[in-house]
Amino acid sequence: MNPIEEILNKETFSKEDLVALLSADEKESVKIFEKAKAIKKEQVGKKVYFRGLIEYSNYCSKNCFYCGIRAGNSRYVRYELTDEEVFEAVKYAYENDFASIVIQSGERSDRKFTDKIEFLLKEIKRMTEGKLHVTLSLGEQSVETYRRWYEAGAHRYLLRIEVSNPELYKKLHPADKHHRYEDRLEALRRLRAAGYQVGTGVMIGLPFQTISDLADDLIFFRDFDIDMAGMGPYIEHEDTPLYKFRHELLPLRGRFFLSLKMVALLRIMMKDINIAATTAMQSIDPAGREKALMVGANVMMPNLTPVKYRQNYLLYENKPCIDEEAEECKSCLEARIHLAGDEVGYGEWGDSRHFGKRNEI
Ligand code: 5AD
Ligand code: SF4
Ligand code: FES
Repeated sequence: MNPIEEILNKETFSKEDLVALLSADEKESVKIFEKAKAIKKEQVGKKVYFRGLIEYSNYCSKNCFYCGIRAGNSRYVRYELTDEEVFEAVKYAYENDFASIVIQSGERSDRKFTDKIEFLLKEIKRMTEGKLHVTLSLGEQSVETYRRWYEAGAHRYLLRIEVSNPELYKKLHPADKHHRYEDRLEALRRLRAAGYQVGTGVMIGLPFQTISDLADDLIFFRDFDIDMAGMGPYIEHEDTPLYKFRHELLPLRGRFFLSLKMVALLRIMMKDINIAATTAMQSIDPAGREKALMVGANVMMPNLTPVKYRQNYLLYENKPCIDEEAEECKSCLEARIHLAGDEVGYGEWGDSRHFGKRNEI
């Protein structure tokens, strides 16, 4: 048995094991991918769940150094969907049996915004007789806001920790009170306490990030006992401060390959959580999302944002699905899922089995 196979046979991976696995070359990694594929087949099956993605607004009060829609970037026209546009997208998701949507936006915590989200949640529940599940991805908020939104009908929340190393976090964000690692961690704890299924994730291939950091990210997910994950390669954006470090990055292919390994290893480590095949994977490799499905992912997010806004929600360069209407994106993703040998779990909420189990105890 070669060293990679030996590690893969272990019950739990140590930090050193993860560093070795993440360092495996393309040939050795085949074993990792095979194992992840087998675990997915056995534990989560062939069903891939759709989460219709509504990019509600690109107003953001923050200034993360990596992100294209940071407050400091004046190149984008700022928008917010009208209520009708949100309901239109909701109707599309509901009528097409998506069973679940994600409302994502730049981060804002003013009362006007938090009230609006609460109103939209209640309307969505009413319109769909409580049948459409809603996941929120709206950043760090107060305990009260998280509770209000939960009571209004949102039961899942995605908040990426971005990087689990506090020192690295500092290098990627302004040094002010709006960008504190501790606050982000606290927000994850608040979400858990409020009853949400909690999803988090990281970017892969960032400047200054090491393999050891990525191993720690995987351990962070395990220790936090997350229900869902969304991870993808970091992709530079011209209008951001990190762009000047573009020459120090791994080549795009390398970042993609590392991202695939992160997905596969997380599937091996956390067998029954939901893992997204993220859009950023596809911006590097045209078959990126299928590849992620083949090594363990089981969630896809077809874009339902009205096409006229999409040019203004570019967090990174080369983002796919900019001109495709909801219908095209849905058929396209459906085809991709079939190519990966899976099928769409239409009409099923596709809750994280992991969450279900934890709450039975
Ligand atoms: N490359 C890849 N992912 C990015 N995100 C933000 N900027 C980038 C980038 N340049 C991710 C962050 C954020 C999510 C919505 O998008 O992880 O949480
Ligand atoms: Fe705002 Fe999120 Fe982008 Fe940071 S990553 S600037 S919080 S949209
Ligand atoms: Fe969106 Fe193909 S994945 S159009």
